[in-house]
Amino acid sequence: MSSLVQQSTSPRQQIRQQIRQARRALSKDEQHTASQQLLSQFKQLPYVSSAQHIALYLANDGEIDTLPLIQWLWQQQKSVYLPILHPFSQGHLLFLHYTAQTRMTTNKYKIKEPVLDVRLVKPVPVLDIIFTPLVAFDKTGQRLGMGGGYYDRTLSSWHSHKTGPRPIGLAHDCQQVNSLPHEAWDVPLPNIITPSGLLNW
Ligand SMILES: Nc1ncnc2c1ncn2[C@@H]1O[C@H](COP(=O)(O)OP(=O)(O)OP(=O)(O)O)[C@@H](O)[C@H]1O
Ligand SMILES: [Mg+2]
Repeated sequence: MSSLVQQSTSPRQQIRQQIRQARRALSKDEQHTASQQLLSQFKQLPYVSSAQHIALYLANDGEIDTLPLIQWLWQQQKSVYLPILHPFSQGHLLFLHYTAQTRMTTNKYKIKEPVLDVRLVKPVPVLDIIFTPLVAFDKTGQRLGMGGGYYDRTLSSWHSHKTGPRPIGLAHDCQQVNSLPHEAWDVPLPNIITPSGLLNW
């Protein structure tokens, strides 16, 4: 039975399971250290100093904690945005202005997101950077997400024309693999920051 299950699981799905398990297995201390190291890498990133409208996300499922990054951006007077699931355009995201006063709710994936208020929506083309979550990345900047295609859709203009917000991945070092199988719609990332440094392609 278990071999049957394995045969029906794609290589992408196997990598997702393995890496999600590895990052969930990090201890509280390891997570804390990783997040502080990520913050010091983040502060040195040249793209951030010249950006004003910056999308991030809240960590979930063992992802590296992004709250220190958000708080530092607020201190730098940058505008921060978080993704929410589009209310009727399935598979798409909206980005809402996020402050310490933002009312939050929980979406169908049990991820916290701002309550939809159309006055707070920032159109994707006027964002400067989208810090992008990922499950796994490889030595060429290929990215594997959670499987919904949300970020691939959001970043499609970057993929085809290098226009729109610059995507920058955030990840634990343990999320790197040698080589990822990828499809035409998968958007590779030009930069990824991990606790140990900045990767550029
Ligand atoms: N630009 C796009 N337009 C239409 N469908 C897309 C696009 N990008 C991805 N998809 C669809 O989304 C589905 C999931 O894609 P994929 O497995 O690459 O998700 P992912 O990259 O892991 O997730 P995410 O982007 O949410 O992090 C695929 O079936 C794919 O056909
Ligand atoms: Mg993809």
